[in-house]
Amino acid sequence: SDYNSDKRPRASDEAQHRPAGTLSTRRQLYERNFPLYKQPVEVGFFSLDSRRNFFNDQRQLRYYVEPRKSPDFNLRDGYTSRFVKRDDGVKEKLDHVLKWILANRGKIQTRDQTSSSSCALGVDFVTWRGHLTKVLTTPYETQEGWMLAASKFRGTIYISEVETEAARANRLTRSERQEEMMYWGYKFEQYTCADVADGTPDPGGVVNTNEAFCTVVQTRLADHKLLFSGEVDCRVKDSDGPPAPGCYVELKTSAEICTPKQRSNFHRYKLLKWWAQSFLPGVPQIVAGFRDHDGIVVSIETFQTSKISHLIKNEINCWKPTVCMNFCNDFLSFVKSVVKEDNPRLVYLFEWDPHRDVAYTVHRDSPFTFLPEWYVKDTRS
Ligand code: A3P
Ligand code: MG
Ligand code: MG
Repeated sequence: SDYNSDKRPRASDEAQHRPAGTLSTRRQLYERNFPLYKQPVEVGFFSLDSRRNFFNDQRQLRYYVEPRKSPDFNLRDGYTSRFVKRDDGVKEKLDHVLKWILANRGKIQTRDQTSSSSCALGVDFVTWRGHLTKVLTTPYETQEGWMLAASKFRGTIYISEVETEAARANRLTRSERQEEMMYWGYKFEQYTCADVADGTPDPGGVVNTNEAFCTVVQTRLADHKLLFSGEVDCRVKDSDGPPAPGCYVELKTSAEICTPKQRSNFHRYKLLKWWAQSFLPGVPQIVAGFRDHDGIVVSIETFQTSKISHLIKNEINCWKPTVCMNFCNDFLSFVKSVVKEDNPRLVYLFEWDPHRDVAYTVHRDSPFTFLPEWYVKDTRS
């Protein structure tokens, strides 16, 4: 189970102790043995209510209710009459994760609680799961680039996404059809989730995408100690099931698959994103609702996260989990080699565009600074 790395140094690394200027995303460079990825452990959770207020509890956790054999879910129902949409122009950055850290400092597991370092967080990276998902899928991404801001504060590197100009343009020019289809995923959640363990879903209620339940997990990728948070759609209701995150269920919708070409595309593109999102926090199952063009769910299928990589092995030129994880490992090593100055007002901005290498720029006291005053002033860790 130990990480058996046959890491080949890149030519750009050979100048000793000098950080490499860029990082290649070529798949072939990352076809090594699977790196050590420890089973993620839930160290806490938090909830965001219908107005996006933070609560240090599980009030927004919902319970999965298995649909009937032939469900009659109409994902268009309630759009727009029973829909409150989160304002995605408001950038919350790491704020909710930082609020959780301030409220739960004692719950973070440090290797040696008695050491003098027990006053620091004792993790190398703090971020959102969604940011790591983007890193994992980078070697296979051909459409969307990313920008990730990194700052070091008391020995921990915080990573927070910055919206690219292209993503901003997409957000501001979405078609009416795209806007509606973004609602469908949340409507599927409403059809399959109850607010209490012995409850039933209420498809007549309001879909409010401000509401969220987030898990906070700790894990380790090779020698990178990670603490990250990710939104969780629901949990299984049996209380004697596995402890979190093993009881969590990810819900997804996707277009129904009618042709071999559609099946191949689903395996090659969609399952990569689904796998990366759920593998990172240790969510074991994904329930998918397949819908037609009119938003009617025609079938439901459960995917075990751990079996997805076997499902896709028959596809030619398909993605590989090991490439994703080795790239993430090398990206985090690259970030560590670059982010040296411990200063919450200093931002190292890592940027990637498809068909390019990862590069970075440095910004002092700029609008990219993302660690808030209340965090860098208040925290005693
Ligand atoms: P689907 O997953 O069924 O597409 P998540 O699946 O991560 O829990 O997200 C819930 C829903 O939010 C998604 O449902 C989708 O409707 C919407 N959503 C999430 N990320 C999105 C993105 N990058 N672009 C558009 N819609 C997104
Ligand atoms: Mg979700
Ligand atoms: Mg989901």
